[in-house]
Formats: sequence, structure tokens, C-alpha cells
Amino acid sequence: MGATGWTRTRLCRLACPVGVFFLLLLCFSSLRLHLPNSTCVWGVRPCRWFGGTPPSKEDAERKPPPSASPPSAATGAALLLQTLSEPQDLGEGFRIVRLQRAFAASLTPSGQILIREYLSGWKELIKLMDSLGAAFGLISGETRTKIAILQENQRGPHGAHYRTLQSMVRFELARGLVGFQSLPASRPPSGCRTFLRLHRALKWLELFLRKLGTSPVDADPSRMCADAYQEALAPYHSWWVRQAAALAFLAMPSRRELYRILSAGGGEEGRGPRRLLDTVRSIAHVYNATQELYAAHGMLALP
Ligand SMILES: *[C@@H]1O[C@H](CO)[C@@H](O)[C@H](O)[C@H]1NC(C)=O
Repeated sequence: MGATGWTRTRLCRLACPVGVFFLLLLCFSSLRLHLPNSTCVWGVRPCRWFGGTPPSKEDAERKPPPSASPPSAATGAALLLQTLSEPQDLGEGFRIVRLQRAFAASLTPSGQILIREYLSGWKELIKLMDSLGAAFGLISGETRTKIAILQENQRGPHGAHYRTLQSMVRFELARGLVGFQSLPASRPPSGCRTFLRLHRALKWLELFLRKLGTSPVDADPSRMCADAYQEALAPYHSWWVRQAAALAFLAMPSRRELYRILSAGGGEEGRGPRRLLDTVRSIAHVYNATQELYAAHGMLALP
């Protein structure tokens, strides 16, 4: 047993995503000149598949879960290319203290969720993802787009309604902006749909960080991250994206390296799993409050 068996397992896990990757490149090179209008290109607005398209009419329909409209091979390839592109600069490096403070501050004692604080927590999470390897650009690029949309809403003429999650939901429901059904791509994405995408991705990171914080020293972070993804996010992604994600997870740093990244700037108390698990708890409180609010309005399955 030992090294050889381990290497073989890893190679087997690698084979499928790598094959898919080359297949995608092939498809993409033949399709790139004929992208249909409906094609979602990562980071570009009309992206129905991540729920970028918004609402015209309010009907309190509960749609059956996720299985988002399957993107074409070209879409998957575009994603992969984005994945491999350089991460954008977000200023200073990741600090777990900032991550925890932001999420702790985004939930008020009365249970209101403050969007600005929530988004600064997300910016910290993006820095974390970027330090996990360029392959995570797949998901971090997506979340950057969502953050930008919500910030635009906050700066817009109705900015006052976008201060808390509760006021945003109230405002968009009253105006029929939520979009319980899929909508024409010409409409700007609704805040509720956009926030829901971040909310789902937050569960994935919450699960992953919790696994990391409670794992034995010899545990494999790639496996933990893939399991968390499987549980929280994979059901909302197409087959193509799931393959690209699987590839990204294989390239993850070791557990030791992850702890080094997570404790950066944390001083003595930043080391080890305690600070990490405190952070996970702050994230979980915000996640649960969001989940409750969305469930109460039947909005957990917005397209
Ligand atoms: C969040 O909700 C889950 C499931 O309902 C529960 O198990 C967990 O304890 C909650 N976490 C926090 C921090 O409230």
C-alpha cells in the first residue's frame, strides 16, 4: 500500500476531468466563432445559466429545483478558459480575522442581514479561493460578477432598499422584480437571484472550512473540498462545470499549506482550527438566517 496506491487513485481521479478538459478545448475551438445568442459567457451579463437573467412578472410559483438549463460545450470551455485566466487584484492578501469580522458584522442582533458587510466577507472568501490556485477562478470569477451586480444595486437609484437582505426582498417582491420564472435576457438581474447564487456557494465554503477545521492531520483537502461541493453546489451546476470543478479540486494545496494560508496575519491565535471554526460559525449564522428568509418567501429555487 502507501505511495503507489495513493498515486494510482489520484491518477484515476484525474483521468476523467483531464479528458473532458481537452474535449472542451476541442469543442470550443470549433464553436467559438458561432456562439449562439443564448450562450452564457462567464463574467458577461446575460448569463441565464447562473441565474443572471431577471424577472418581468411576479408569480408566486415554486419551481422544481436547480438543474439549470444545460450550457453547451462552448459554455463549459469558455468557463474553463476563464478558470485559467489570471485572478484579479483585490488588494491585500487573505486574512481570516477580516473574514470572521465581516460575517459576524453582517448579522444584526435583530436578525437583519447587512448586504455591504456580507459582500466584504465574500471579497475575503474570493481572496481565499484565489490563493487555493488559479483553477478556483471558475467559482471566484462567478462570485465577483455577483458581487458587482449587488454593489451596482446599492449605488443605484433604489440603493436605500439594498441595505439589508430583508429590505431588498421586500422591495423586489413588491415591484415584481424577483423573477420566479426565467426572464428575457434584456432585463437586469434581480438582487434576490444574484444573492441566492452567493448563498449557495457560501454553503460549499462553509462545509469545506468546517471539514478542514475538524479533520485529522492526514486528511486530504481535495477530497474534503470535493465532498463539500458535491453536497452544496454540484446539484446546481451542469455536468461541464462539475468536471471543471473536479479538476480544480485535484490541484488543491496540502492541508498544511491550507492552514498556513488560513492563519496568515492571524498571530498566535490564528493558528490551528479554533479561529477557523469560530469563523465557520459566523458564516453559518448568516447562512441560516438567509436560508430562513428565502424559504419563508418560497425563493430557494429561483431560476
Ligand atoms: C444552522 O442550521 C443547521 C440546520 O438547521 C443547524 O444544524 C446549525 O446548528 C445551524 N447553525 C447555526 C450556527 O445556527
